[in-house]
Amino acid sequence: GSEENVRPRRLDDYIGQKDLKEVLAIAIQAAKSRGEALDHLLLYGPPGLGKTTMSLILAAEMGVNCKITAAPALERPRDISGLLINLKPGDILFIDEIHRLNRVTEELLYPAMEDYRLDITIGKGHSAKIRSIPLPPFTLVGATTKVGALTSPLRDRFGLIQRLRFYELDELTAIVLRTAQILKVSIAEDGAQEIARRARGTPRIANRLLRRVRDYAQVKGMNAIERELVSEALDVLNVDSRGLDWTDRLVLGTIIEQFRGGPVGLEAVAAATGEDAKTIEEVYEPYLLQIGYINRTPRGRIATEAAYQHLGMMEASRSRGEQ
Ligand code: ADE
Repeated sequence: GSEENVRPRRLDDYIGQKDLKEVLAIAIQAAKSRGEALDHLLLYGPPGLGKTTMSLILAAEMGVNCKITAAPALERPRDISGLLINLKPGDILFIDEIHRLNRVTEELLYPAMEDYRLDITIGKGHSAKIRSIPLPPFTLVGATTKVGALTSPLRDRFGLIQRLRFYELDELTAIVLRTAQILKVSIAEDGAQEIARRARGTPRIANRLLRRVRDYAQVKGMNAIERELVSEALDVLNVDSRGLDWTDRLVLGTIIEQFRGGPVGLEAVAAATGEDAKTIEEVYEPYLLQIGYINRTPRGRIATEAAYQHLGMMEASRSRGEQ
């Protein structure tokens, strides 16, 4: 995709996720000096923070190949077997959305991860036999937005479990400036910062917004991208001052207007907005929680005062003097 050329290739080019980089740098150096494959690694966190990128970087640093797949593509036993059998020593197998593996596939992974062994069943019923095929040492990198949805036997087989966090403003600004250089886009520091402010802590979004701003500047015949121009371009795209898009505002507005600010269950929000519950939970909510616009309580989601303020709405309970 269009992301390819702007992905950092080496650990040194990767901006942010300082703790993760430190942990991985040590694991890389140790595995290399022992001449072994890296330990299996589980990366979790919201989408767009660099899980796939990090897997590709690990492969580059280890000098091995990285095969990329996603759990929904591993439907039949032969899907995962085919991938495992073709690995070379030390290779990385990246499985995205690993919490969505089916049971058969997941059970094939247990001996593969633990003993580098593929147990395949030949025949059916009473005459079925298990044949074990040795695999080369390899590294499974699993990625998920929902670490809690993994079964514990699978989770327990990862030597490293690491969370990716939302990026800080200065990190995102640096990422925008780096991407701009690669794309040969001339952008001022304050322009990069304005994109960063609206990128919801997420490099993938920052880089996407940069491309849209580049289009806007080109069409308007501007060759210097400064803060004002960025604001103009992103306002047109309905990306507001905190980076919330139409769906974010719909979710917040629905909780506030139809459910009096909550608490309200996820399914009710999904039904009222016409959005998929999983998408709300995995894509929209994490950032809204991060910036404190919603809270999760045992009784459901509630919109916070900050959300009311951002949308320019009055808190009903406050206006009635209940708080
Ligand atoms: N592009 C996307 N994510 C990045 C990161 N973490 N560092 C540098 N460039 C990036």
